[in-house]
Order: sequence, then structure tokens, then C-alpha cells
Amino acid sequence: MKVLKEKPKSILFVCLGNICRSPMAEEVFRKNFKASNIHLELDSAGTAGYHQGELSDPRTIAIGKSRGYDLKHRARKILQEDFEKFDLIFAMDNSNLENLKQICPEMFLHKLIKITDFSSNKSTRSVPDPYYGTEKDFHLVVDILEDCFNEFYKTFSQ
Ligand code: 4NP
Repeated sequence: MKVLKEKPKSILFVCLGNICRSPMAEEVFRKNFKASNIHLELDSAGTAGYHQGELSDPRTIAIGKSRGYDLKHRARKILQEDFEKFDLIFAMDNSNLENLKQICPEMFLHKLIKITDFSSNKSTRSVPDPYYGTEKDFHLVVDILEDCFNEFYKTFSQ
């Protein structure tokens, strides 16, 4: 398991469009941290701004609701200031991570990490993009994120 050097006070979750995976990740972490009475500053953003200002995809909202998550996030594109502001920046897949590395100031590169580095399943290397998929793909997103939260929480609370 990945070990944290320092406990983050803030985390930004990043995917491509900020309407499927990263707002779900934000909510999975928010709800589960809250259940342990831990408050962190959490937010999410996309590397692209296609859906800027929009609520999450209706499928994200519906599947999230069915799994106990209340999604209210409005999509936004990542800003340069986010790299300074957040202690940890979680990418959902390799493409997001590469895009982030291209725009992240060198002094903050150490903040970038793929969320599945915390997966309990070594073969889970990314949170697959469900945008062109089915409901099943959205459920898989929640399954992976809940598992990553649980593993992250173990190292966070040590
Ligand atoms: P997300 O999914 O990156 O998990 O929010 C996507 C949302 C929108 C698009 C692609 C992926 N899009 O091409 O508009």
C-alpha cells in the first residue's frame, strides 16, 4: 500500500470532463471522511472545460444517489492556482495524470498522484471513463472509488 508522507488538509480530484469520475470521487471521500468526523477541503476539476458550469452527468447523479451520494458539484476546469492551493491532487487515469504533469509547476509535481495507487487490487490501475459506457460502468466507478477511499483512510489515520 502507498504510504502518505504528510497528512493532506485538502485534496483535489481530477478527471477529463469533471462530470463523471472526479465529482463522484469528491463525494465518496467527503461522505466517508465525514462519517469519521474528519473535515478536509475537497474539490474536483477537469483537465478540459467542455462542461464548465454544468451539474454532473445525470447518470453520475442517479447512480451516486442510489449508492448514498448526493452530488451537487458544478463542473470546472483546473486552474493554475489549484496546484498551489491543494495538498494532494488525485488523477483518475494515466491520461489525466499526463495532462496534469504538462501544466503543473515543477515545484508542485510531487502533489500529483493516481487515485488507484491506493486501490487494494493491484490490477486496478485507473478509474475507467464511464462517459460512453452503461450504468454498470458508473457502478464500477463507485466500487473503485470506495475501495481507494478505504485504503487511503488506513494510511491517513495511522
Ligand atoms: P469524466 O468523463 O472525465 O469522468 O467527467 C467524461 C465526461 C465528458 C467527456 C469525456 C469524459 N466528454 O468528452 O465530454
